[in-house]
Amino acid sequence: MQASEIRQKFLDFFNSKAHQIVPSAPLVLKDDPTLMFTNAGMNQFKDYFLGNKTPAFTRAADTQKCLRVTGKHNDLEDVGHDTYHHTMFEMLGNWSFGDYFKEKAIEWAWELLTEVYQLPKDRLYVTVFEGDKEQGLEADEEAATFWQKLIPQDRIIYANKHDNFWEMGEVGPCGPCSEIHIDLREEEERKQKDGKELVNQDDPQVVEIWNLVFIQFNRKADKSLETLPAQHIDTGMGFERLAMALQGKKSNYDTDVFQPLIQSIAKKANVEYGKDEKIDIALRVISDHIRAIAFAIADGQLPSNNKAGYVIRRILRRAVRYGYTFLKFREPFMYTLVTQLAEQFETVFPELKAQETFIQKTVQEEENSFLRTLENGLKLWEELKSKLTDKVVPGEKVFELYDTFGFPVDLTALIAREEGFEVDMEGFEAAMQKQKERARAATSQEAGDWINLNEADGVEFLGYDVLEAQAKIVKYREIKTKKKTLYQIVLDQTPFYAESGGQIGDKGVLVLRSEESEVRSQRREESKDEENIPPSGARGLTIPIIDTKKENDLIIHFTPKDDFLKLENLAEITIEAKVNESRRLLITNNHSATHLMHAALREVLGNHVEQRGSYVGDDLLRFDFSHPSKMTEEEIAQVEKIVNQRIRENIALQERRQIPIQEALDAGATALFGEKYGDFVRMITFDEKFSRELCGGTHVPATGQIGFFKVTSESSISAGVRRIEAITADKAEEFIGEQLDTINQVKELLKAPKDITKALQKLLDEKQALSKQIEVFENQQAQAIKKELLEKVEAKNGVNFLAQKVSLPSADALRGMNFEIKNQVENLLMVLAVEIQGKPQVAVMISENLVKEKDWNAGKIVKELAKEIKGGGGGQPFYATAGGKDLSGLDKVIEKAKKII
Ligand code: SER
Repeated sequence: MQASEIRQKFLDFFNSKAHQIVPSAPLVLKDDPTLMFTNAGMNQFKDYFLGNKTPAFTRAADTQKCLRVTGKHNDLEDVGHDTYHHTMFEMLGNWSFGDYFKEKAIEWAWELLTEVYQLPKDRLYVTVFEGDKEQGLEADEEAATFWQKLIPQDRIIYANKHDNFWEMGEVGPCGPCSEIHIDLREEEERKQKDGKELVNQDDPQVVEIWNLVFIQFNRKADKSLETLPAQHIDTGMGFERLAMALQGKKSNYDTDVFQPLIQSIAKKANVEYGKDEKIDIALRVISDHIRAIAFAIADGQLPSNNKAGYVIRRILRRAVRYGYTFLKFREPFMYTLVTQLAEQFETVFPELKAQETFIQKTVQEEENSFLRTLENGLKLWEELKSKLTDKVVPGEKVFELYDTFGFPVDLTALIAREEGFEVDMEGFEAAMQKQKERARAATSQEAGDWINLNEADGVEFLGYDVLEAQAKIVKYREIKTKKKTLYQIVLDQTPFYAESGGQIGDKGVLVLRSEESEVRSQRREESKDEENIPPSGARGLTIPIIDTKKENDLIIHFTPKDDFLKLENLAEITIEAKVNESRRLLITNNHSATHLMHAALREVLGNHVEQRGSYVGDDLLRFDFSHPSKMTEEEIAQVEKIVNQRIRENIALQERRQIPIQEALDAGATALFGEKYGDFVRMITFDEKFSRELCGGTHVPATGQIGFFKVTSESSISAGVRRIEAITADKAEEFIGEQLDTINQVKELLKAPKDITKALQKLLDEKQALSKQIEVFENQQAQAIKKELLEKVEAKNGVNFLAQKVSLPSADALRGMNFEIKNQVENLLMVLAVEIQGKPQVAVMISENLVKEKDWNAGKIVKELAKEIKGGGGGQPFYATAGGKDLSGLDKVIEKAKKII
């Protein structure tokens, strides 16, 4: 069965069991601070499990792109060295949100594996949770009972918390699980040893293929388990492992998911897969890593120097390093695999094909820069090696190579070993640890547990229509960072926009009204530092909201003030939530202007322009987009012109809040890659023929409100990605005002009220003419000086000797003078003590024959003479110069020169 058929059968099977087939969420997570990348199929459903959100359907299935390279689930170091772990892989999953539970999940898993896929039952084993006293958890006899109906008791294995209690991360939904393992060994081997003994023993031939998780708890920040209001099913089957089992292979890499890629790489490297383990590992690493990199870039995560971007960069470097060392690639090669990958996934994950060129360019540039690093690193290694006194490379040095030059430690170790050196790994780890602690200390943040006050989803956003609303607190918690303590507050409904889609979060105030708070507000100290404190006389306790952010869909308000905690009956208090209106207005102007600019860019540059990132603030808007070259002045002016025209047309906003995604796409709305859209989306249109985007941000009622639009900069941020910064309304006006002021000042200075360019050109022409004149004068002067000097040459002991003090305009003139005299006078020994623009210099010139015959050296002489002017210098045996500090010493230079002769 081909991989594509295997995938389809899974989806069809669960569809026949009334599951909604949903698309994969992006690989890169945006609104979940507990994870960097999607590490399991269930991530996108986290809020359904926690009860923060109610799903539109109670059963779902999909194939999810996952990346396990950081945090709780990290397989990176195993990848390539074994045959069944990956960085990026597909997880086939089925879910129940408070619907069916253990019995159906187990029954259907068995039916799919043994009847649809027809895997032999006698090669399958299952595990169930044995319980954990410390956590107060019972053994999962329930799951065991359901399994007993399907599989002999002796194939059911009880296993511990490590293997059979699944958790998403440090916090979040979790529960006991039951795994299905398959024994892929040859009959002979199976006879010798029971497969049961190899389950969970890291045997590459006896592997887990499917994990059925019975989600019942939420792991909280204090490590305790909270029982969830409902029970859910979360299953995940490794697609590539299933393909291995069904295609009768011994390795995931031998299936049609990986073989075509491996063969291409092998061909490029002129090697054969399956002949040499080191080469095979490199081929596996590269075929695996290019998938992770390509999908991450497609989903919007460019390689960079921090956070998720750095993780992607490291994966890429790991692959390049294997290619460099074991396959002898000296030029970028990974990017050439993108096309093949894009074609392989075209029908399942079309985002690769759609962005093929962009991904190629990005990968190629990364490869190029790391290959340079590698070569520099090798040079550094040579230097380092020459300084070592024994055969051990100190840990800090290895760390320095790693930290400063991006040189992976395993590469340093490998090269070192090849040349008979050992690396002090302990020292390296210690240096690494130290840096980690520094980083942790700088960014550490501790979140307390949520204190629940009222029942509500906490996702209701009113701020498209109003900027003030009444609300109740749903929950709050404390967040401690090294520098400060903040409080996060969730309301049942709110006009505050939470940072997303590039638009920054709202600021404003919450006014808490209760009898208690009225008394308190009278006593309240004036606080001037925070925003929008209402005029005096307002009743209630006012707390500032300094930012609003999202966690999944939860809208979280941030306040630095804790006085609300002292109020009684916090749960009952009515809150007036007020957004800072003038600030929001500026943000809104900038967001709508961003849409107009996006459309204008496509008009001017072409349809290849794709949004790569954006920032919409009250101060400015920033827009990153794909375009291969620098925009010309004319192109920028054209974009500005189109946007300003559209603003003056005062186009009314057309907003569709809940439109089926397909309808919006059919209507031509621009969607972003790597963005997770629901079944219903918000569509923002300013003139259906001009700008139509899927967008959750806030927008002006009509474009006229934006007033005016001005681009302030255009630059490059990475291969094929440009960045525009622009301003609108008052900010744009001020900007133009300042530019005009400068021009007016220049006009005044030039005394040219009309044509400043002409006046400036005249000034420049005059300056050039004057410079030329000065040059002529200097030349004449130099000729006169030379004439004088030549008259003063004396014959002494068979040498034509000259020592004089002169004044010259420049070092060039001095040099010219020396060479001209040397060309006219034979057997010359000349010392010039010169003043050049107030500074002393000495020059010594000796005819070459004297240098040879008498073994004289201008460099040595000049050093000696320079002492008189408190300076130093040097040069060649026939000509040398020295600069100094003491102008008064020039006469002594001449005296000394005479003594020397
Ligand atoms: N969440 C579980 C896992 O990732 C099952 O989907 O293994």
